Amino acid sequence: MLSEDAPRIVLAGLGPYARTFYYPVLERYHSIGRLTIDAVIEKESQRHVVEHFLKGRSIQPQRVVLVPDDLDHDELSVFLEMEDPLSGESAWGCIVATEPRAHRAYAEWAVRRGMHVLLEKPVTARDLREKGPVEALRLVSDHRCLAELADRYGVTVVVQAQRRVHPAYRMVKEVVGEIVAEFGVPVTYLDIHHADGTWNMPWEFVSRDGHPYKFGYGKLLHSGYHFVDLFCWLSEVNQQAAVPPDRVGLDVFPVAANRLGAQLAEASYERLFGGKRWRHFGGLPRPASLPRQSWGETDVVLLARLMRGSEVVTTAVLSLLQSSLSGRSWLELPADTYKGNGRIRHERVTVNVGPLLAVQAHSYQDGRADGTSPFEVVIYRNRRLVGGEAVTRFTMRSEAGEVAEASDSLNNRAREQILEDFLAADGRRSGIALHGTTVRVVAAAVAGVARSAQGESGRSAVLLDAAAREWYRAE
Ligand SMILES: NC(=O)c1ccc[n+]([C@@H]2O[C@H](COP(=O)([O-])OP(=O)(O)OC[C@H]3O[C@@H](n4cnc5c(N)ncnc54)[C@H](O)[C@@H]3O)[C@@H](O)[C@H]2O)c1
Repeated sequence: MLSEDAPRIVLAGLGPYARTFYYPVLERYHSIGRLTIDAVIEKESQRHVVEHFLKGRSIQPQRVVLVPDDLDHDELSVFLEMEDPLSGESAWGCIVATEPRAHRAYAEWAVRRGMHVLLEKPVTARDLREKGPVEALRLVSDHRCLAELADRYGVTVVVQAQRRVHPAYRMVKEVVGEIVAEFGVPVTYLDIHHADGTWNMPWEFVSRDGHPYKFGYGKLLHSGYHFVDLFCWLSEVNQQAAVPPDRVGLDVFPVAANRLGAQLAEASYERLFGGKRWRHFGGLPRPASLPRQSWGETDVVLLARLMRGSEVVTTAVLSLLQSSLSGRSWLELPADTYKGNGRIRHERVTVNVGPLLAVQAHSYQDGRADGTSPFEVVIYRNRRLVGGEAVTRFTMRSEAGEVAEASDSLNNRAREQILEDFLAADGRRSGIALHGTTVRVVAAAVAGVARSAQGESGRSAVLLDAAAREWYRAE
């Protein structure tokens, strides 16, 4: 039953992810009267995909708005301002789940019309082909601008960074935070490993519009944002340490999409897929056919040190990989590139609080369609000094049947909690103002990747003080 005052929600972007996650959840909420699906906004070129998808749905949006393709950021902002897709009938809120180069334009448009916003990660992205390092650092002004606008218009912008509400990571932060606060010892070492098994064929780096590499960015502005955010969010406990850090020293080790030849040579592809099938695609353009342009990274390892003056408080390693174990065994790109292309998620986090505590969270999918991926958390304590059990193990699973997509249901449940925060206009867990450090570290890392592609050092230092205008130094 639809209530008269059910909030009207706009969904900007109906790509593979929104079709898998947002639309079904919105339908469910719509059917119990919690909201109305007011509008879906997509690109004109996606007309058939949108029509085909909506044909099979039980609940239809009140309007579908198709905007011209190929507008750059400024043109899109002008278009939204002048042509207003909602024809002056603003909604309560807008979910921004477009390709990230359009995030800022939609978020800004929605905020200026007084809508609350649920903004998918990464906060924004930019075309890095021409001026990679400079454009990467502008991600920070995008963030500041959106946070200031939200304040000015009195609306809430929540960022979909679901690991902030994930029960396993909340437990890790709580256990670690208690020890840091009680004994003043900081997190001394953090190891974050995320492998998503996104295996792109060489020509897909040229052709793909979703999760693209052809605009000069890759893993860091794909799923990498989550893990830089996890690093920054978990590290907040260090503010309770005897010597809290005041900056991050960062180095980057990327592998770009045009530099994969040493890992997967033609002979290996032919052996895997058969020479005849492989050569069928042989004439398609690949990054090697466009040697002058820069390409996003498939893998990147970040070495980070949280520092106070010249002292190291925390050493961190973030290994963010796409060239990892995949279930893909086909050459053609399927329509569903989100769940239908063989991605396998392996995720592991280790946190050490010096000699006092070690915590590990671990979640490895096994690639089976019905495979569950429980999160295991193991806590090891120096119990004679800090008390408690020497070892405690927790296995977290979602309840059977709770979420259709069993293999990733804890993640989905966490996403839904962030959606609930948005519907309550509650930015306390993942409001945009809380993403300042993450955006600065992501921007510095992306700038480092772009600089290292030009043969320069990728090293930098980032101040943790959110108010610092001179927040970045290339080293
Ligand atoms: N939180 C998570 O765990 C998670 C998981 C997957 C994706 N995401 C994020 O969700 C967003 C969408 O992901 P995706 O995999 O569907 O990406 P995608 O790039 O494949 O699809 C996004 C959709 O946006 C549309 N789009 C692009 N520019 C547009 C514009 N100017 N106006 C209207 N529509 C436009 C595209 O046509 C496409 O259908 C991205 O920001 C991605 O980072 C988050």
